[in-house]
Amino acid sequence: EKGGYDHFMLKEIYEQPSVIKDTYRGRLLANEGIIKMAGIEDNLEKFVNAQRIVIVACGTSWHAGLVAEYIFEEFTRIPVEVEYASEFRYRNPIINKGDVIIAISQSGETADTLAAIKLAKEKGAFVFGVCNVVGSSISRETHAGAYTHAGPEIGVASTKAFTTQITVLTLISLRIAKAKGTLSHSDYHNYLAELETIPEKVAEALKCNDVAKQIAAIYKDSPNCLYLGRGYNFPVALEGALKLKEISYIHAEGYPAAEMKHGPIALIDEHMPVIVIAPRQGHYDKVVSNIQEIKSRSGKIIAVVTKGDVQVRDLADHVIEIPDTVDALSPLLTTIPLQLLSYHIAVMRECNVDQPRNLAKSVTVE
Ligand code: M6R
Repeated sequence: EKGGYDHFMLKEIYEQPSVIKDTYRGRLLANEGIIKMAGIEDNLEKFVNAQRIVIVACGTSWHAGLVAEYIFEEFTRIPVEVEYASEFRYRNPIINKGDVIIAISQSGETADTLAAIKLAKEKGAFVFGVCNVVGSSISRETHAGAYTHAGPEIGVASTKAFTTQITVLTLISLRIAKAKGTLSHSDYHNYLAELETIPEKVAEALKCNDVAKQIAAIYKDSPNCLYLGRGYNFPVALEGALKLKEISYIHAEGYPAAEMKHGPIALIDEHMPVIVIAPRQGHYDKVVSNIQEIKSRSGKIIAVVTKGDVQVRDLADHVIEIPDTVDALSPLLTTIPLQLLSYHIAVMRECNVDQPRNLAKSVTVE
């Protein structure tokens, strides 16, 4: 049932090209310039007139929500807030008329997310769900929704759910942007065409597996690890750190790269591996200077770069290459090497990759 892979997690990492395609199949008609999603079409007015979108989720789904915040604000110009469901529900949150709530959950059973949805509904909000499990509690409790088509995710560490959540949320943003006219005609069409190429680019990115394994062998015994990214890739840094923590039990933290000088740079010495997400599109020059700051303090740099990059290659101790894409879609590619790196480190440390200690696949208690 692991399809020849040693672990479900690895199988699920490798399924990403096909499940991303499954997630946009029939919804993304790039040649026609159309996005078809019944749950959005039926409620288009609510999204178009939204004063604010509040995203509620936990864990990796919360990270997908953070990526979506950058995408929604850029494409639709609707202000977005992303909340941990557990904080939102206990805070007497302010929900105004015209707010749209989006709940994201792979399992559709996360207790805090479910409670946040119920609270938002009591306050009169329109609640839209992005779930993977068909017929799950969250999919039933929300007013409308769109499924990710990731298929069953067995590994406790979420991988393909994350990239398919981002795919669905990107489709939703593009549909709203089209209705609102907040993206130029050419940008809109370019994003549709680019999204269609993502599965083959993810397949290309997966070819970094051997490099990721070599790097894993060097750093597997590090007690700590930092992950840095900016813009669309700041949430990817958080997700990379979570993946490492939960399956390898190495302490890891994700930061927006520019925050280093506000404290965490004090941690840098020759024993600290720093994983820097530095694709060419995005805040490349800024990230390059952040890398220089770490280098000059002897930190070890593992950089995720766009294929053909030379500048970061000169500075970094190790590079992992991914294909080129537009900034907004880059999380779908940059996250791949980070998943593989965590996977190999966990295997080398003889951790139980699919069922890490203290964790359950769905957190149905608060
Ligand atoms: O099923 P959900 O998406 O609601 O689950 C949320 C989190 O419990 C989940 O993402 C968790 O953080 C994963 N173990 C991360 O890999």
